[in-house]
Amino acid sequence: MHIRFIKPAETHALRQQVLRPGQPLEEMEWSKDRASGNFHLGVQEEEDLIAIASFFRERNEFLRGWIQYRLRGMATAPRHQGKGFGTRLLQFGMGHLRDMKADLLWCNARENAVGFYARAGFKGEGQTFLIEGIGIHHLMYHRL
Ligand SMILES: CC(C)(COP(=O)(O)OP(=O)(O)OC[C@H]1O[C@@H](n2cnc3c(N)ncnc32)[C@H](O)[C@@H]1OP(=O)(O)O)[C@@H](O)C(=O)NCCC(=O)NCCS
Repeated sequence: MHIRFIKPAETHALRQQVLRPGQPLEEMEWSKDRASGNFHLGVQEEEDLIAIASFFRERNEFLRGWIQYRLRGMATAPRHQGKGFGTRLLQFGMGHLRDMKADLLWCNARENAVGFYARAGFKGEGQTFLIEGIGIHHLMYHRL
């Protein structure tokens, strides 16, 4: 397996399969995907992309940090979950962000993924909240 920078369009299939089942593929392109400073990473296993994560230059008003990035669209293909790929992808992304002198990574973590982020060293902030159509989320962050 290896980790590489991927194009926004390469995220679409896994976003749909893992994060937005039932939604059309055309809706898997998100508005900030191609904005300057944002980047996408994937875990490549032979022919297949098996995990993805997107990193957006975006501030969260509840958190301190000069150069904040937001983690979005973190997903591992179902049959590869729990094998450490998500963690390796996250670590690679945070290494790159440190090289870029970013000082904070945050995300709105789905309730089911809070444990995953906590193991990776993220801390929770504030109350949980509902994102319509997706479920309960918790703001989490990791200083870099
Ligand atoms: C959450 C997700 C991205 C994690 O990726 P992954 O490749 O399965 O994660 P890893 O295998 O690196 O897991 C690392 C550790 O976290 C644990 N873990 C993984 N998913 C977990 C979860 N949902 N809750 C609690 N712990 C979890 C693993 O058991 C592992 O623990 P260990 O190191 O003690 O063995 C993946 O499970 C996924 O795509 N889930 C569905 C989509 C989703 O919820 N994405 C997050 C949106 S905010």
